[in-house]
Amino acid sequence: MSRVSTSELVDPHDAEAFDAWYDVHRAATDDGREFAVTWAREEMRAGLLTESAYFGKEIWAVRDEAGAIAGTLYLDFPLKDNTSVIQAGIGVRADVRRRGYGTQLARTVAERAAELGRTVVQGQLDVPIDGGPTPAQAFAAANGLTVANVEVHRILELPLAEEFLSGLAEKAAEHHQGYRLISWQDRCPDEYVDAYAAMQATFELEAPMGDLEVEAAVYDAARVRAGEEQRVAQGRNGWITVAQAPDGTMAGYTELYVGVHDPLNAYQWGTLVAPAHRGHRLGLALKVRNHLELQRSHSERRIAHTWNAEQNTAMNAVNAVLGFRPVELAQELQRRI
Ligand SMILES: CC(C)(COP(=O)(O)OP(=O)(O)OC[C@H]1O[C@@H](n2cnc3c(N)ncnc32)[C@H](O)[C@@H]1OP(=O)(O)O)[C@@H](O)C(=O)NCCC(=O)NCCS
Repeated sequence: MSRVSTSELVDPHDAEAFDAWYDVHRAATDDGREFAVTWAREEMRAGLLTESAYFGKEIWAVRDEAGAIAGTLYLDFPLKDNTSVIQAGIGVRADVRRRGYGTQLARTVAERAAELGRTVVQGQLDVPIDGGPTPAQAFAAANGLTVANVEVHRILELPLAEEFLSGLAEKAAEHHQGYRLISWQDRCPDEYVDAYAAMQATFELEAPMGDLEVEAAVYDAARVRAGEEQRVAQGRNGWITVAQAPDGTMAGYTELYVGVHDPLNAYQWGTLVAPAHRGHRLGLALKVRNHLELQRSHSERRIAHTWNAEQNTAMNAVNAVLGFRPVELAQELQRRI
């Protein structure tokens, strides 16, 4: 173990260095998982190269004795809110596990956390639906991380039958007469951007997060636009549907993303109905409309993915109606330092 080299910061502008890092990161992250959905190479590269006022991002590597990358570390840390938190993901090549490379990278996490003044380390473990055990769970426990929240990763094969979706929409509509559903692609119309940002700001507090330390995000129109620009750089397209209450207030939203670098998958991002507007089947109506919008232009998409806390009964019920089925668990880990 004493021969494990020190960690090195990898420059994502150096295409060769990034590619070597990504190869190991991807293989370690996908290892043994049927429905792994690791960011595609070009999405990851663009994500690292796009300057962000909201997140700091770093990638690190540790090398084996022959000089090849043995393990990878991805770090990001919010800059405008949640400034006590640093997020970390570690992956080690399958053929060199249990030799201390993971531990060396965990040391780098602790060092960077101290340098950046962060006191909470968070990470995510993808484990089989039966709960494991996996090597990574043992590794996390050895590093003092505990499970603060558990999300279920569910999938849904697309496209859905159009009559099925319109039938659901019709039934749900009886419960929210006077509300309007508005959809757009990629860029939020200027007239809705402030209200959309304000809703996104509350998402982290409204979605169940278990014991994870999370504070409301600082979200404004500029942040919405920055996210949209980053997604353009990453080759991602978004479908967003919002609900507008009879008095014109934004009552809820849902988002689906697809990427040119990841053509088999579609990703469900946030869905939120504001507390004052719950109980009108808006959650279901938003998702149904958004799926219709997506599949009208992307009938080739095969699998939609979503992650929700086990205790999120309302969202899980909506997903069950749509036909989502569970495939793995995402354990959200945390350690206070
Ligand atoms: C988790 C992972 C990064 C560990 O890397 P590693 O280099 O093998 O870890 P280390 O050799 O530093 O192990 C440190 C300690 O973790 C525990 N540990 C690691 N793997 C273990 C296993 N298979 N069984 C039991 N304990 C294990 C042990 O306590 C070990 O110390 P020891 O070898 O002295 O007993 C690696 O298994 C991996 O890449 N898994 C897939 C990707 C992943 O899930 N990453 C986690 C997301 S953050």
